[in-house]
Order: sequence, then structure tokens, then C-alpha cells
Amino acid sequence: MAIMKQYLNLIFTLSFLFFSHLHCSTTSAQSPAPAPPGPPDIIKILEKANQYTIFIRLLKSTQVSDRLIGELKDADDGKTIFAPTDKAFSNLKSGALNALNDEQRVELVLYHVVPIYIPLNQFQTVSNPMRTQAGDSGDGEFPLNVTTAAGNTVTLMTGLTKTRVAGTIYADGQLAIYRVDRVLEPLQVFASRSSGPAPAPGKSRKAADVAENSKAWSLVLHNLALFAVCVIAFALSL
Ligand SMILES: *[C@@H]1O[C@H](CO)[C@@H](O)[C@H](O)[C@H]1NC(C)=O
Repeated sequence: MAIMKQYLNLIFTLSFLFFSHLHCSTTSAQSPAPAPPGPPDIIKILEKANQYTIFIRLLKSTQVSDRLIGELKDADDGKTIFAPTDKAFSNLKSGALNALNDEQRVELVLYHVVPIYIPLNQFQTVSNPMRTQAGDSGDGEFPLNVTTAAGNTVTLMTGLTKTRVAGTIYADGQLAIYRVDRVLEPLQVFASRSSGPAPAPGKSRKAADVAENSKAWSLVLHNLALFAVCVIAFALSL
């Protein structure tokens, strides 16, 4: 009888060990999840189109490209991107790009992104000023106006820049990327230059950082808690 009891005890202990081990290893293997067939790769599309090295560099260094991929994954209203060519950047006043701080670089890139998919023949349906992902489209902020003419001629006006949509690089019903031969210069970034220091970083971005940080912390805490549970389970099973 005593042997039987010991035997049962052993089985119980072993299975407990096995399951707690299983739990620990499955939870630690949880992240990162395998990537599902994702949205179109903006960077690859631009690389293939060949004359967008500066815009690509900006998209990457500001991490806007990662952000857009995330947003496209969430399958919202899609995106429209106006991609300035390298020549467009070289036509900026010399040193203009280097003079921007990180915040302004992000704003400049986001100003070239509209948070809806707009087919080339639908720009006449857009009401002015169009809202870009740089934010406020109010006067002196980030307004972007569009006018259309026959033959899909689309003209973009920022208050500083006036240029046409020069071609379609990509369009799939969710993401449209159009070529522009001028960098779209937002008033907020380029007009306020001579009138004092750069504007303070936006509140919204700070809030986003805080949210990001607390998310990271809760993940750490979660993992610590799991680790503790695993350790206790392991200790109990000995
Ligand atoms: C953009 O359009 C709005 C509304 O029509 C107008 O008030 C504003 O002056 C325009 N801005 C530019 C730069 O064209």
C-alpha cells in the first residue's frame, strides 16, 4: 500500500513538472508571433522604383515606415503616400533638410501621407484642406490643398509648394503611392523657420511615447509574474 502511494506520488509529481515546464516554455516562446502575410512593403516598392533613396532614408530613420506598416495591417481606410524623388529633395534649399530636428523630420514625412486610400481619379472628391498624418490642417499648420483638372491632373498646394502628382508608383485598392517632383513643404515646418526657435515637440507624440513605455512595462511585469509562477511551480513540484 505504501509503495502504491509512493508510486502515485511520483506520477503526480512528474506530470506536474511536465505541465509546468510546458507552460513555461510555451509562454516564453509566445513572442514574437510569426508574421502573417502582411501589407505591401512600402520600402521595397520604393526601392524598386529606384529614385527615392532620400525619402526611403527618411521613412526609415523616422520609423514612419514601421508605423505605416502597422497601420496598414489594421486594415483601416488605407493610405495615400506622395513620394518625392531624390531630385525633388536636391531642389530644396541647401541645408534645409539637415536643419530640421527629429520632430520636424517626422512631421515632414507624415505630411506626405494621407490616412485614406485615394485613387488617382478620385481626388476631386477630397475637400480642402486635406488632412495629412502630420496632423492639424489649419492655417499655418499642415494644410494640403488639392485641385484637379481634366485628364487626372492633380495639383497639390501647401502654401509654400505647388506641384503636380507626376505619376503612380503603386496602387492596390488600399495603398497608393504617387510620385511628386517637389518635396511638399508644410507651412508649420518651413515657414516658421525665420521666426524663432523650432516648435516644442508635440504633446500627442509624448503621450504616444508614454503609452509605448507603459506597454513595455506591463509586458515586463507580466513576464516577471510568469517567471515567478514557473519558479514556484517548479519548487513545489520537487
Ligand atoms: C486651401 O483651401 C482652403 C479652403 O478652400 C483655403 O481657405 C486656403 O487658403 C487654401 N490654401 C492654399 C495654400 O491653397
